Amino acid sequence: MLTAKNIFKSYGSLQVLKGVDLTITKGEIVSIVGSSGAGKSTLLHILGTLDTADSGEIYLDNNRIDLLKGKQLARFRNTHIGFVFQFHHLLPEFNALENVCIPGWIAGAKKKAVADRAMKLLDTLHLRDRMENKPQQLSGGEQQRVAIARALINNPQIIFADEPTGNLDSKNAKELHELFIQLRDQFNQTFLIVTHNEELAALSDRTIHMKDGKIIEPILENGPVI
Ligand SMILES: Nc1ncnc2c1ncn2[C@@H]1O[C@H](COP(=O)(O)OP(=O)(O)O)[C@@H](O)[C@H]1O
Ligand SMILES: [Mg+2]
Repeated sequence: MLTAKNIFKSYGSLQVLKGVDLTITKGEIVSIVGSSGAGKSTLLHILGTLDTADSGEIYLDNNRIDLLKGKQLARFRNTHIGFVFQFHHLLPEFNALENVCIPGWIAGAKKKAVADRAMKLLDTLHLRDRMENKPQQLSGGEQQRVAIARALINNPQIIFADEPTGNLDSKNAKELHELFIQLRDQFNQTFLIVTHNEELAALSDRTIHMKDGKIIEPILENGPVI
């Protein structure tokens, strides 16, 4: 469903991605792990069209997406891709329901249809009673669930999440993991998640290890290469 071929990226003289190949299948939860500075966020941003590679190709459902530009790119990103970051980036002056609706309004969908879907999503994410609250009135876990509902509002093909549990305690992190699995099982939702959280990595369908800008085969201590 998502395929990346031979992705290279440098910042000045610093080579950050050195030929990354990757394929994600629909309905898969794939985690990316690796030490700080390995290039995980850069890769996620490039796959999600938030940043551009120096060379390489990216396909979503056989459509080349890394060549999109301007309005076409903005429209594509808004309707096909969802993002969840470590810090939720919710808009403080809007309540939870409005924050979830905004990408739907931007996509030009009917207000009533957007609100109906937003309410359904917030209900699924156990936020039915929190819809009217502003972000600062919500706990960290609730804020992150609102951010996930917002990422889902336009029914994206794939959700990219960059350390989504990085700012949560273990109880909230666990709830978020269960939620990802529920969304995969219920909606066949596809996720690519950068994480330091070993539990989340273990729960995912597949783990990709990155080191120094490349995908590597991990070598287990005292064990065989897997
Ligand atoms: N916009 C940027 N300009 C210059 N260097 C960057 C930029 N973004 C990331 N880097 C550098 O690229 C390397 C990889 O960063 P990143 O992809 O954020 O790694 P990770 O997410 O695995 O910790 C790091 O050395 C980082 O300092
Ligand atoms: Mg990072």
